[in-house]
Amino acid sequence: TPDKLPPAEGDILVYADGAQVGKPIDPKNLEPQPTRAYPQAKSGDGQPLVKSGDTNNLLLVSKFPEAQLKEPTDLESTAQGIVVYSAICQHLGCPVNWRNVDQTYLCPCHSGVYDPKQGCKVIGGPPPRPLPQLPIKVEGDQIIATGTFLIPPYGISETDFEEYKE
Ligand code: FES
Repeated sequence: TPDKLPPAEGDILVYADGAQVGKPIDPKNLEPQPTRAYPQAKSGDGQPLVKSGDTNNLLLVSKFPEAQLKEPTDLESTAQGIVVYSAICQHLGCPVNWRNVDQTYLCPCHSGVYDPKQGCKVIGGPPPRPLPQLPIKVEGDQIIATGTFLIPPYGISETDFEEYKE
């Protein structure tokens, strides 16, 4: 079904929960502690379509002072210090949480730790690869995807990723 489609160029990031659920994320109102989002496309008949049918599409949107974003973050895929990743751990698929003490994403299942300021590279625990970064731009008051995930999300092999990206 269309709500299971991967994030794609032109999708608007909308709040996944909270008082503003379904509304476009306000790029001015973000901090390091991530805001949960889903990509929203237009369906065939032009109605907004929130792509919440695939758990990999749950996104974490964090904003840092721009100078704090370092390699291997794909800096060209960030805007105004805003970085976006899939929330789903690359080990066994649990949603990760924020850990304020060192500003990292911590997986509650087996203590995988990712650094969102460094491309969500793995800095602790068993995850085999970084959380996939979603390339974005800021346009007016909205955050827009400029493509799909830069690397395969959880459960997608390198081979399947070619098809996933279509
Ligand atoms: Fe995240 Fe195992 S599922 S560390």
